[in-house]
Amino acid sequence: MKILVVGGGGREHTIIWKLAQSPLKPEIYCAPGNGGISKLATCVDIKATDIDAMVAFAKENQIDLTVVAPDDPLVLGMVDRFEEEGLRAFGPRANAAVIEGSKVFSKELMKKYGIPTAKYEVFDNCDKALEYVRQTSYPTVVKAEGLALGKGVIIANNREEAENAVLEIMHDKAFGDAGNRVVVEEFLVGQEVSVLAFTDGKTLIPMVSAQDHKRAYDGDKGLNTGGMGTFSPSRLYSKEIHEECMKNIFLPTMAAMNQEKRTFKGVLYFGLIMTADGVKVIEYNARFGDPETQVVLPRLETDLLTIFEAIIDEKLSEVEVKWADNAAVCVVLASGGYPKAYAKGYEISGIEDAESLGDITVFHAGTAVKGDAFTTNGGRVLGVTAVGNDLDAAIRHAYEGVEKISFKDMHYRKDIGIK
Ligand code: AMP
Ligand code: GLY
Repeated sequence: MKILVVGGGGREHTIIWKLAQSPLKPEIYCAPGNGGISKLATCVDIKATDIDAMVAFAKENQIDLTVVAPDDPLVLGMVDRFEEEGLRAFGPRANAAVIEGSKVFSKELMKKYGIPTAKYEVFDNCDKALEYVRQTSYPTVVKAEGLALGKGVIIANNREEAENAVLEIMHDKAFGDAGNRVVVEEFLVGQEVSVLAFTDGKTLIPMVSAQDHKRAYDGDKGLNTGGMGTFSPSRLYSKEIHEECMKNIFLPTMAAMNQEKRTFKGVLYFGLIMTADGVKVIEYNARFGDPETQVVLPRLETDLLTIFEAIIDEKLSEVEVKWADNAAVCVVLASGGYPKAYAKGYEISGIEDAESLGDITVFHAGTAVKGDAFTTNGGRVLGVTAVGNDLDAAIRHAYEGVEKISFKDMHYRKDIGIK
């Protein structure tokens, strides 16, 4: 069986690492892939958003299943096109991926179906938005409607910051058409937990919980990043909270999407916030999270390929999804300067030494292969993931792995797993 995974970061490396363990022994391709992925899969130089080239490659190479991992190709309708061409693909169609692609859609969905979330207003006119933020209370949250590489959300602490956020998004078009509309919403206070779920539209099976560290430096200081590390499970996500989420958030979201004739099949990511007033949804994603996947999939005992196939065939209810009763921690090793400008091309040493400690897997986010070595090729370079009996053991072990690895100007947080 031949599988093509679309994407090329740490999330895709983790998905491929898991698929490679399948008893179904798939032959794996990845487009575009990265240095680490090239050790497990044949990398193909096609951009993740190039739907025509992806379809052509899948046809020419008789790919049996294509897994679309990143948000952009999902929102652009890659899965729809594959289906139209008679090809099998895993991931939501565009009309369901809109739950991530449009914050206006997701907010309206939650309002209509009574799913708890922050109060909000939508504006398609810059002056009206400015007028509103001048008289609201602070902090307030200004969000571009569309996909903006995680940068379209601005927490404004005062009137000036709120005005600047609106102008940047709607007037300067810092995120292009993603900023045609803005959502201005109530600022919520609480810890954030991510829960990803497998769903075929009939059955929804949540994965184990995770938390990430978004800021660049220890103690949640510095700029927001794509994620500097993750851990699973969350210490806050109790059985009671899980039941509350199933009843008030997860199952109602699946049902709402069906009701809207936008059945969601794939991985639905719930970004949750634990407020004094109960759990609320901060955001939905239409895919696996990055770097949450790096700590969730190592705890999955069931064959991932079997789950993907069952979701496509709408037979998820027939699969028993099992998790290890352990913990996982992923420490991201980033290039000096990230999330601002950084250099690439430095040689990386010590990956094998780290993995030879056992219970450690180094997932590659941004690497290339040069001769016998890996070199840095992105802002986030590696995700050193350790599993242990509990979080403390996993944290300790992840940093034992980190100690073995080095490249010029490498930087990482020393407090991953502590929240
Ligand atoms: P989003 O892209 O909607 O997930 O927002 C990115 C991040 O901004 C979230 O993970 C939160 O840390 C923060 N955020 C978004 N919306 C709110 C809100 N209403 N209140 C507080 N923080 C928020
Ligand atoms: N880690 C957040 C995301 O994948 O969007």
